[in-house]
Amino acid sequence: MAQVDPPTYDIIIFGASGFTGKYVVRETLKFLNTPNSPLKTLALAGRNPSKLTEALKWANPSHVNIPIITADISDPMSLKHMASKAKIILNCVGPFHLYGESVVSACVEAGCDYLDICGEPEFMEKIEAGLYDKAVENGSLVVSACGFDYVPAELGLMFNSRQWVSPAVPNQVEAYLSLESDKKMSLNYGTLESALLWMANADNLAEFRRSRPYKTPPQIPGSAPPKGLTIEHQKKVGLWGVTFPSADASVVQRTLSILADNPSGLQGVNEDPKQAEKRGAFWSTIKPAHFGVKVATKNLLALFGFITIGLSVVLLGRFSFGRWLLLTFPSVFSFGVFKKGGPTEEQVNSASFKMWFVGKGFSDFNLASQGNEKPDTEIITRVMGPEIGYLTTPIILVQCSLILLKQRQDLPKGGAFLLE
Ligand SMILES: NC(=O)c1ccc[n+]([C@@H]2O[C@H](COP(=O)([O-])OP(=O)(O)OC[C@H]3O[C@@H](n4cnc5c(N)ncnc54)[C@H](OP(=O)(O)O)[C@@H]3O)[C@@H](O)[C@H]2O)c1
Repeated sequence: MAQVDPPTYDIIIFGASGFTGKYVVRETLKFLNTPNSPLKTLALAGRNPSKLTEALKWANPSHVNIPIITADISDPMSLKHMASKAKIILNCVGPFHLYGESVVSACVEAGCDYLDICGEPEFMEKIEAGLYDKAVENGSLVVSACGFDYVPAELGLMFNSRQWVSPAVPNQVEAYLSLESDKKMSLNYGTLESALLWMANADNLAEFRRSRPYKTPPQIPGSAPPKGLTIEHQKKVGLWGVTFPSADASVVQRTLSILADNPSGLQGVNEDPKQAEKRGAFWSTIKPAHFGVKVATKNLLALFGFITIGLSVVLLGRFSFGRWLLLTFPSVFSFGVFKKGGPTEEQVNSASFKMWFVGKGFSDFNLASQGNEKPDTEIITRVMGPEIGYLTTPIILVQCSLILLKQRQDLPKGGAFLLE
């Protein structure tokens, strides 16, 4: 049997020269060869070595000796070479709809693990459908959406659901996302490109979902809550919220379906019996609930401002001319929400988010089965963090990669997953 060389690097950051990529580099370097960190070796990859060198200098000038690997989406051999050198690829090259599949394929072929910061449901679901079996066979763990999309929503729901101590059960959890900043905050052009591709392909996604096998629905006590108001004043947290068509809800729903099929979670590739027991005990505390997201602000006027901007981006995003306008003059047509060159460091550092999870349910499970009984208990929890795109997203991605390095034996052998 041919000898396979062990990977040279614990982590390779692909797309390290991108706006988000360079923040991921900065966050990763905080853990390189620090006490107790499993991260010992790191390389950066991308199509332009001099841009990668610049990104490294920007991220931390004292780390100039990090190796640089040239890899380009248009050159499959370069992707194959990159994947053969890594335990884990952190993919920051977007839009994933255009560039993601060849990177995942290279990782699955090489049997290395893959994490990304994708927020595009169509890409994630197609990868999961198309590459799951091969990834299991080759021992490659492919996990998409390890960023602000969709980790705070998913962990927030789980945290809220674990506060319901038996016999209490949740029925519905609504998340209120509030973005805060002293300065006018914006997102980089790369996120706009990805969001527009998502909008342009929304019909394909709906059709693709219809073609997929039926998923086990989670068993949620009580009847499904009424649709509720689109605009709502949530007095307990002092916020006005408007229903937000985010993919958070579908990702959460998918995780709850997997949990319905695997009540003890997913088996680790080489876990010991103690870990298996711990895993089962943890997942048994997660109680499923109906889930939705609202964007929220403290005053109603600001909420109307948000709705106006959101509607105009969505309306323009439906037509190719509108998309052209948005991509050519992003600041003008998105009212400054998206900007070529992205926000300044000062803007990034001044921003933060709070996500309130308002859970409604029953003080006793038996009440839920009594026909029209309304929820009689409320539990409110909160997830908060720094700026969403360039601080929280790198923190989440890097923490996921450190868990993978440290506890690979406790995670599935392989497969393609959205986060769970
Ligand atoms: N999950 C979240 O919450 C979250 C947060 C932030 C960003 N994102 C996503 O991350 C992605 C990147 O966003 P961004 O703002 O960082 O975009 P960006 O600044 O445009 O970065 C794109 C990166 O892709 C690289 N690239 C493009 N074409 C390539 C090719 N043919 N071969 C190799 N590399 C190539 C670019 O390389 P060059 O530098 O050489 O041009 C750059 O490094 C987007 O999809 C965005 O939606 C998600």
